Amino acid sequence: MEFTTEVFSLFDRKWALVTAGSIDDFNTMTIGWGGLGTLWSRPVATVYVRTSRYTHEFMDRNEYFTVSFYPEDKKKILGVLGTKSGRDMDKMHDSGLTPVKAGESVTFAEAELTLVCRKLYMQRLELDRIPADIVERFYSKDAPHDMFVGEVVSVLPRFVQ
Ligand SMILES: Cc1cc2nc3c(=O)[nH]c(=O)nc-3n(C[C@H](O)[C@H](O)[C@H](O)COP(=O)(O)O)c2cc1C
Repeated sequence: MEFTTEVFSLFDRKWALVTAGSIDDFNTMTIGWGGLGTLWSRPVATVYVRTSRYTHEFMDRNEYFTVSFYPEDKKKILGVLGTKSGRDMDKMHDSGLTPVKAGESVTFAEAELTLVCRKLYMQRLELDRIPADIVERFYSKDAPHDMFVGEVVSVLPRFVQ
């Protein structure tokens, strides 16, 4: 996988998992929105998590989170992790993936790349600063997104070849 190509479709089409917590108590969910860049002279990953997600509680409580990317044959699993909540299924044991420690956080052995992130900043997206058509489309029925910016403290390659 190369970050030098397809940067705009990386999250949108490939998807990723955002995971927070400890190996004994974590949650994970699929994300399709996110970004990679630079802030305060540090490499950062930005993710957007609705306040209604179970994962949000773990993002709030923990200083670290991971963003991990998967090969195409895991897309079905990402689909499940993106439609079922950890409140309704045991994502720790029944995700179909193998949890592994990643620095101060957790990823899965099947990931082809994991970004370990230290939370630097969090802010709720303010609806009155967003164009009306977008508010109508994305927030008329659903909870707002919180933006989490994490410093990428390590980039882990694939665990399982
Ligand atoms: C392809 C895809 C992309 C998604 N992207 C996001 C996202 O960027 N932010 C978000 O809050 N939810 C997103 N979701 C929805 C969550 O993954 C979904 O609500 C999940 O069940 C939440 O799990 P949790 O309650 O265990 O945290 C996406 C779902 C899919 C299938």
